Amino acid sequence: MSRPHIEPYDERGTAFRRLTLPGFPRGTHYKALSVDGESGACSLILKLEGGWRRPAGFSYTEMEIFVLDGEVRCGADRLGPGRYLWIPAGVPLAEMSVPRGARLLAFYNYGEPTFEASAEGHADAFGDGMVDLDTYHGMQWNPVVRKAPGVAPGCMTKVLRVDPVTKACTFLYCMTPNYWQDNISYHDCAEESYHIWGTSWMMQFGYLPTGGYFWRPPYINHGAFASQLGCVALGRTDAELFNYFHFDPWTQIEQNRRRAIRVLRQERPELHRWALAEAGHNHPTAAHLHADGTAHVHEHATGHELESGHSIRRARKP
Ligand SMILES: [Fe+2]
Repeated sequence: MSRPHIEPYDERGTAFRRLTLPGFPRGTHYKALSVDGESGACSLILKLEGGWRRPAGFSYTEMEIFVLDGEVRCGADRLGPGRYLWIPAGVPLAEMSVPRGARLLAFYNYGEPTFEASAEGHADAFGDGMVDLDTYHGMQWNPVVRKAPGVAPGCMTKVLRVDPVTKACTFLYCMTPNYWQDNISYHDCAEESYHIWGTSWMMQFGYLPTGGYFWRPPYINHGAFASQLGCVALGRTDAELFNYFHFDPWTQIEQNRRRAIRVLRQERPELHRWALAEAGHNHPTAAHLHADGTAHVHEHATGHELESGHSIRRARKP
């Protein structure tokens, strides 16, 4: 996922725009939080007007939705605030309607927003991968495992999904009132967050209020942290989240990247050796050795061509 560093951004100062892409009905409005200029993958806020209606259908890229407010009817189901869906590419949702208006976070992970009306979905869709959670009422907050330095007590999470291939993670997190954490963190993955409610503070980027958002590329220092009244946010990473904690606010991206490599060499030497061995472009894309030492090469995960010319964009099946 290649997106520029956006931090901090307060979406409340931006007006909604009509979404006029093919397949999206009238009454669909959006704000772009971040966009990958190469693939069209994006994080959006969608506002659906009262009376909005759409037939059953699917997206050509996997997507995630999180209901911020209002109610979305999906077949016989009613999706209220805190409802989270991870929807694999090509898997259809039932006919949808919005009686009195709703706002959603919508993440299109590998391509631009698409919609294809279809009750059956695509033949190659990863139907078993669907995730459907009532995150507010059906899940408890969990403390983050403490190390020193590490995440301070009072920051808790609900993990919504971890991709089995990329380890990309979607999670809710909260900070309790008068939360503070005195260390600085960075990581190998990109990270994004939308503040559903409340304000947090960060040494480098100041206050992030309700409606605040960031898309942060790898190895950028962030922290110390604080929140006076607490906050609830939805976060995502594009790969495994491993926090490197420290106390030096002056380190730069390249220093942090090199320190991460040193940590990898010390703590996971086998992976470090493998990463060096696989550097360059003269090797198979995904070769896995069988137990007998023979290699099996998977085909490139470029998706499956459809009659319409669209291809399904998704992470590979586990
Ligand atoms: Fe982080």
